[in-house]
Amino acid sequence: MDLNYFNPKYPSVADLKVAAKKRMPSFAFDYLEGGCNQEVGLQTNRKAIESVQLRSELMKPFSSSSLEVELFGHTYSAPFGIAPVGLQGLMWPKTPEILAESAAKLNIPFVLSTVSSASLESIAEISEGKAWFQLYNPTDADIRKSLLKRVEQAHYPVLVVTVDVPTFGFRHRDIRNGLSIPPKMTIKNVIQMLANPTWLLETALVGKPEMQTLKPYMPKNMPVDQLAEFMNNTVMGRVDLEGLKPIRDLWKGPLIIKGLINEKDVEASISLGADAVVISNHGARQLDRGEAPIKPLFNISKKYGKQIKVFVDSGLRNGPDIASALACGADFTFLGRPFVYGVGALGKQGGVHTINSLSSQFEQVMRQLRCHSVSELPQHLIVDSVK
Ligand SMILES: Cc1cc2nc3c(=O)[nH]c(=O)nc-3n(C[C@H](O)[C@H](O)[C@H](O)COP(=O)(O)O)c2cc1C
Repeated sequence: MDLNYFNPKYPSVADLKVAAKKRMPSFAFDYLEGGCNQEVGLQTNRKAIESVQLRSELMKPFSSSSLEVELFGHTYSAPFGIAPVGLQGLMWPKTPEILAESAAKLNIPFVLSTVSSASLESIAEISEGKAWFQLYNPTDADIRKSLLKRVEQAHYPVLVVTVDVPTFGFRHRDIRNGLSIPPKMTIKNVIQMLANPTWLLETALVGKPEMQTLKPYMPKNMPVDQLAEFMNNTVMGRVDLEGLKPIRDLWKGPLIIKGLINEKDVEASISLGADAVVISNHGARQLDRGEAPIKPLFNISKKYGKQIKVFVDSGLRNGPDIASALACGADFTFLGRPFVYGVGALGKQGGVHTINSLSSQFEQVMRQLRCHSVSELPQHLIVDSVK
């Protein structure tokens, strides 16, 4: 893995997306790209972040910009991380492995999803104990205990609990495609796979994507049509305060609650004893008429920023977006789809390329603003642009 890799053919995430789309079967690309219902939320997220404006201060003394941010006792090299994305192996074989290694080597957080195609143990090893783990609260208390024990034994430093999936989003693309894991061998799907020979060959080499972390809890040879019921029983546990208390009791390390928009939920997270929240609408995959996270972020960080760390994701695509989110008061940012587009487009080098590209773009904004450290960014926000 060349850690300086940057391919000038793909300076933007939009370029990576176009290339990824050409190389993935369309049912896999649709799963990655889609929002829910009419997909209004995808636009809502982009419009909100694009409306934020920043102001330089060109004549103040300036030496250099540091991109570093300290979180939970570790200094990261950039203020963004890789959000948990389930079933990444469906979109491109070995995506979680590629991204976990790239993130560890370039010193940014990679968050492994509960429903990943890689096992939590293998990712802990590849990331040399640096990856974070994302948990959907299991309905079954024994599975909860078992999973958290495995997370602890694999030495994950941080636990992220996602609370914004109390229902399965109504995603037209996936319904139309009859998406299932592993993919059903319908004529349509087989044609799509054959149309993408590199994806097909690499998938054949590594084996069909399965939910490796959850596999020990699945009945042997479970028919595909029982998967939805298994998921309901396994990962759709309560996410209200009472439902989350057992997790806080079991997990002694830093705890992050992901998927909040409402101030009341931030207050509940503080009362739970969480260390951080991710203001997020799950990349517009759950509530099509939801608010873009960038809107409540400003008030939430002002009101609660001294009591709890405030992170944000959903719709960020470039350096100016990351800078804008931090200027609005976020302590850290996450991006989901862009890194998977990167791997879809460029395979093994896709993670490093996307991280390097975002870092360069972000650094240019910092230097243009004349910002020495990430914590100075809010001084450059045009506050009226977020109201
Ligand atoms: C295909 C896909 C799968 C996802 N799976 C998960 C998941 O398993 N757990 C989770 O907490 N969030 C999941 N998310 C949400 C992301 O963590 C993140 O909130 C979102 O992607 C951010 O928006 P962005 O893709 O516009 O950057 C998923 C998102 C996508 C696009």
